[in-house]
Amino acid sequence: SPRGFRLTRTLPADARGAALRADVRHGLTATPKTLPPKWFYDARGSELFERITELPEYYPTRAEREILLARADGIAAAAGARTLIELGSGSSEKTRHLIDALTGLDTYVPVDVSESALLQAGRALAAERPGLAVHALVADFTGRLELPRTPGPRLLAFLGGTIGNLLPDERAAFLARLRALLSPGDALLLGTDLVKDERVLVRAYDDAAGVTAAFDKNVLAVINRELGADFDPDAFDHVARWDAEREWIEMRLRSRRAQTVKIRALDLAVDFAAGEELRTEVSAKFRREGVRAELAAAGLELRHWWTDAEGRFALSLSTV
Ligand code: AVJ
Repeated sequence: SPRGFRLTRTLPADARGAALRADVRHGLTATPKTLPPKWFYDARGSELFERITELPEYYPTRAEREILLARADGIAAAAGARTLIELGSGSSEKTRHLIDALTGLDTYVPVDVSESALLQAGRALAAERPGLAVHALVADFTGRLELPRTPGPRLLAFLGGTIGNLLPDERAAFLARLRALLSPGDALLLGTDLVKDERVLVRAYDDAAGVTAAFDKNVLAVINRELGADFDPDAFDHVARWDAEREWIEMRLRSRRAQTVKIRALDLAVDFAAGEELRTEVSAKFRREGVRAELAAAGLELRHWWTDAEGRFALSLSTV
C-alpha cells in the first residue's frame, strides 16, 4: 500500500514575511545594496529557475545529472542510506536517480522554501514509489532545521551548487550546522560548481534568451507583491560578473536611471543613482582542495570526489 506524502510547514505563517521585510530593509539601506538570493523563488521564480536548468549555457544541472547517473550506485553503496534528506530539493528531478539507486531507502525528506515546488514534486514521487514515505518540509535551510525522526543511516544531500550562494563565513557556519545534524554512519552529499573559464561562467549567468535576466528581476516582482513596492523591473538591467579573486559569480541589477522606489510595507523610500548596482546573488565556484578544507573545518571528512567528464562540477561525499 502506498506510504504517501505529507508536508510540514516549519515556519509560522508570518515568519517568512518578517524575514523578507528584515532582509529588504537591511539590504536596500546598505552600501552597496544587496538582497539574499532566496527571495527569487516564488512560484514564478521556481519556474524560471527550472527553465534556466534547460538553457544551453547553464551547464551545472546537466553536469551534476551526468555525475548522479554515472555514480548513483557508488553513492548509494557508500551511503547505504535509509533516509535521504535533500536541502533545496526544488523539482527533485535529479534526485530520482539517487532514489532509484538507494535500494534500502525508506523515507525521502525534501526541504525547500517553495511550497509549490514541494507539492508538485513530492506528490508525484509518492505516487510513483509506493514503498517510499515522502515527508516534505517547507523550510528555510539557512535557518534552524528540525528534521522529522526517520530511520538511519541518513544521507543529507545538498545539490545544485547552492552552497555557493553563501558567503565564506556563512558557509562555515552552515556546514557546521549540517555536521550537527549527522550521526556516525550518516553522510553528506554536496554538489559544488567548479572554477573554470570566465566566459563559460558569465554566459551561464547571462544567457542569450534572457531567462536569467527575468529570474534576476523576479526578486523585484516578489518585493512589489509582498511588500507593496513599486519597482519597475524594466528600469533595471541584469548584470553577471566574475570576481576572479573571490572566485564567485555575482548577479546584479543595475539601475538604468536615477530613481526612487517606494516600499509601502516598510514605509521606506530607496534612492538609486543612475548605474547603481544592487547585488542579488553570489554563486561561488570551488576547487577540490578548498572543499576538502571547508568540510574538514566543519568536522567532516571528504571520502569521495566525483566530477563530470569535462570537470565542470563535483559531487563530494563526506562523513562525520
Ligand atoms: C540554484 C543557486 C545553484 O547559483 O547557479 C542560476 C541559481 N542563479 N542562475 C546558481 C542561479 C542564476 C543557482 N543555484
